[in-house]
Amino acid sequence: MVNADLLAIDYKKDFPLLRELDVAYLDNSATSQRPQCVIDAESEFYLKHNANPLRGLYQLAMEATDGYENARVAVQKFINAKSEEEIIFTRNTSESLNLVAYSYGLSNLQAGDEIVTTIMEHHSNMLPWRMVAEKTGAVVKYIECEPDGSISEAALEAAITPKTKIVAMAQVGNVLGRLNPVEKAIELAHKVGAVAVIDGAQSVPHMPVDVQALDADFLAFSGHKMFGPMGIGVLYGKKKLLKKMPPFLYGGEMINWVSRETQEYAPLPHKFEAGTVNAAGAVGLHAAIDYIQSVGFETIEAREAALTKIAFEGMQKIEGVHIIGSNKWEEHKGIITFIIDGVHPHDIAAIFDADGVNIRAGNHCAQPLLDHLGTGATARMSLAFYNTVADVERFLTSLSTIRERMGYGR
Ligand code: ALA
Repeated sequence: MVNADLLAIDYKKDFPLLRELDVAYLDNSATSQRPQCVIDAESEFYLKHNANPLRGLYQLAMEATDGYENARVAVQKFINAKSEEEIIFTRNTSESLNLVAYSYGLSNLQAGDEIVTTIMEHHSNMLPWRMVAEKTGAVVKYIECEPDGSISEAALEAAITPKTKIVAMAQVGNVLGRLNPVEKAIELAHKVGAVAVIDGAQSVPHMPVDVQALDADFLAFSGHKMFGPMGIGVLYGKKKLLKKMPPFLYGGEMINWVSRETQEYAPLPHKFEAGTVNAAGAVGLHAAIDYIQSVGFETIEAREAALTKIAFEGMQKIEGVHIIGSNKWEEHKGIITFIIDGVHPHDIAAIFDADGVNIRAGNHCAQPLLDHLGTGATARMSLAFYNTVADVERFLTSLSTIRERMGYGR
């Protein structure tokens, strides 16, 4: 299908909020909207199948368990993990990364070891490693990116050494929207016996991710950025690593038995899922995966690329607007961060809001990157496949008036 036909398809009809509200929702990197089928799946769980999963021995509880465990299999297939035991449900990407840091990091690292990450990480893929470093005496090393957001092979090779025990990197950065060389990072990590932790929060909703092809040791992502519910996230981990890791949280459902003095932990994946789980969220995530597959990544990637191009080229024509990162639209996976001469990003967001355009302004939970680039706070528009040419045009029209509305060039 050519782009014009592809862009003509109305996907907003599947999303009640987008159908009802007259907004150009361009804050998809913060959270996406949910289609009716996800909302229905979650509410149907509570309406028809609600009981505490993994415990009850009655019909309703078994239905709840089935809904939860079927969702795990759907996630396993979606990212091509070898086994459903490798899929841990968490609350979100942050919790998934904290799980690896607390469980793997604290028990495997010692003074002098190195954790290699990049300066462009979301705070969620930075602060947990700093915690590990503080507690173990390990050191966090940052790979710097170029002003265009690229990370060179030479920079990876220089940073990853025999001292490296963990390499932690986002597959797509949440500010610059650039696809990072994670394959190379994983290969280099394995050469020195380190594990690779991939933050997939901004990639998994927008492109096919195959954990076996990547050979990632861990992959973290969130349901709410991929049209699923808030409060459900995923940690993929290789079974051989997860098996040896101690639990992260302790309590109900993560044990086989408990005596006064000792206990035996449950097998994978339940060892890492203490307490009552978010079964409705998992069922909603399952529906989101089915929905993504019904649209297809070919369509998702083609629409997002076409919209990125229109937005990017339109922005380049507006005086006083400066795009951060690469000057090639192809190197922005649906994310365009920018500044406007003389206008604070919070004012930019407020003016857009008055025009019915939703974007994010501020530090985007990536302050070290903005310090490194020397930009301070920025504004960010981020696309999903359901956005339309009309959304982008509304954004560009509003953008072209902002400096004047702030009193410049009158
Ligand atoms: N991580 C989300 C963002 O980049 C919240 O906006």
